[in-house]
Amino acid sequence: MQSLWIDTFKKTYKFPKFSGASQYDVCIVGGGIFGISCAYYLTKLGFQVTVLEKDEIASKTTGHTTAKITSQHGLLYHYLIEQFGIPFARAYLEANEKAIEAIKEIIDTEHISCDFSYQNSFIYTTKPEELQNIHDEVSAVQSLNFTCEFTTKVGLPFEVLGSCVFKHQAQFHPLKYVYGLVDCIADNCDIFTHTTVTDIRQTNDGYVCYTEEGEVHAKYVVLACHYPFLKVPGFYFLKMYQASSYLIAVDTKKTLFDGMYLTAGEPTLSFRTARINGKELLLIGGADHKTGTYCNYEASYGVLEQVAKTYYPESEVLYRWNTRDCITLDKIPYIGIYSHYMPNLYVGTGFQKWGMTSSNVAANIVTDMICKKENPYAFVFSATRMQPIKNRGEVKNMVVQSAKSIVLDKLNPSYLSFDEIALNSGGIVQINGEKVGIFKDSQGKIFAVKPVCTHLGCLLSWNDVDKTWDCPCHGSRFDFKGKNLYDPAIENLQVYDIH
Ligand code: FES
Repeated sequence: MQSLWIDTFKKTYKFPKFSGASQYDVCIVGGGIFGISCAYYLTKLGFQVTVLEKDEIASKTTGHTTAKITSQHGLLYHYLIEQFGIPFARAYLEANEKAIEAIKEIIDTEHISCDFSYQNSFIYTTKPEELQNIHDEVSAVQSLNFTCEFTTKVGLPFEVLGSCVFKHQAQFHPLKYVYGLVDCIADNCDIFTHTTVTDIRQTNDGYVCYTEEGEVHAKYVVLACHYPFLKVPGFYFLKMYQASSYLIAVDTKKTLFDGMYLTAGEPTLSFRTARINGKELLLIGGADHKTGTYCNYEASYGVLEQVAKTYYPESEVLYRWNTRDCITLDKIPYIGIYSHYMPNLYVGTGFQKWGMTSSNVAANIVTDMICKKENPYAFVFSATRMQPIKNRGEVKNMVVQSAKSIVLDKLNPSYLSFDEIALNSGGIVQINGEKVGIFKDSQGKIFAVKPVCTHLGCLLSWNDVDKTWDCPCHGSRFDFKGKNLYDPAIENLQVYDIH
């Protein structure tokens, strides 16, 4: 099933694939909400801009989000104050609050019809042991001179023990918004789709971005491609991993509530509503796990469907989809100069699960940097920051996961036998001493790939929910035919002909 957003938006554009050679002021690699927002600001300022998108505009993370526009990014501010101090936390909050205002201003100025509505945002708990965390967060946010309240009054169909509420947050339909931006710039910005940038090299006066069928020369390049595919310099693969999460949209057959909700702790559950073609739907999200770790239907969509049935027994699931988010080890996105060794190359990544505001923050910071204008929030998100990573648990996780995948699995793998792989399923078998990734479709047709990630060589794992090969190291994904779906890998898997 497609995402609700992609299914309910009728595209009016068909962009060409790039070929040949062209020169622009700015080349933006990636046509999600960040790339298009950046293109919007820069085009309005008179820059000659091109956007090169590997797939369709807003078809990846942007098209699969919950589309909450909020500065409430989980229980974050208590953590930020403890780790980095009040001025830092306040700047993070202000940057994201300004992003909400900026998005609304664009919508009003450009008359973008995108189902925008102001909503209160709640982090709630039903567990006594988490209640103090809610109180701590409320106190932390109040210490930043931002209005935030503790309340037990929520719109959810169950009681909560407490919640932290941010007022005047918002939600919208992300594709309607992004294509609204495209409407504003389409005459002055060259957008290309199904165009993969395979390499970026420095020249005397800027960069050349190589695509499969041509090259774009530009003074400035913005990496807006979710997970930077350039390995060196930058080393972003040492600083981020990807998490998968799942969403369903449900017709509950009941009158729904206002507000956007997220659990304070694990397991994560997210709620918001959306009015689609006159019908109000409930969106339930959650079941997060690190991309590339084992997950099945019961542990993903099954969990969400059970929640829907518990509170709305008559409910009907209309959409199921999942998404991937880049998670940084210190919980702060990387925005700004990509590397001190590559001037005029910019990046915005690691938006955690909060890409709606973070993308606007990033677009403003990068635009200001290109215009040589100071941005008061740039220091918070500096992509070249060297501060010690205090999230030691996750650092350890990442190292262990990578080592396990690269070394241990190769030395001591647990292979399936060919017959153990069921129809419409996959797994790794050993053939003549070689590891082979096998998928059998429902008719028994076999698709065989080399199950080694084309990014940095980690052993892939089979994802039986999506029928994909996923990388546990940095979250690249490939379909069962080996086609690369998600960065940071950009090359397809090697395919075996075993017939
Ligand atoms: Fe980095 Fe696979 S995504 S090795």
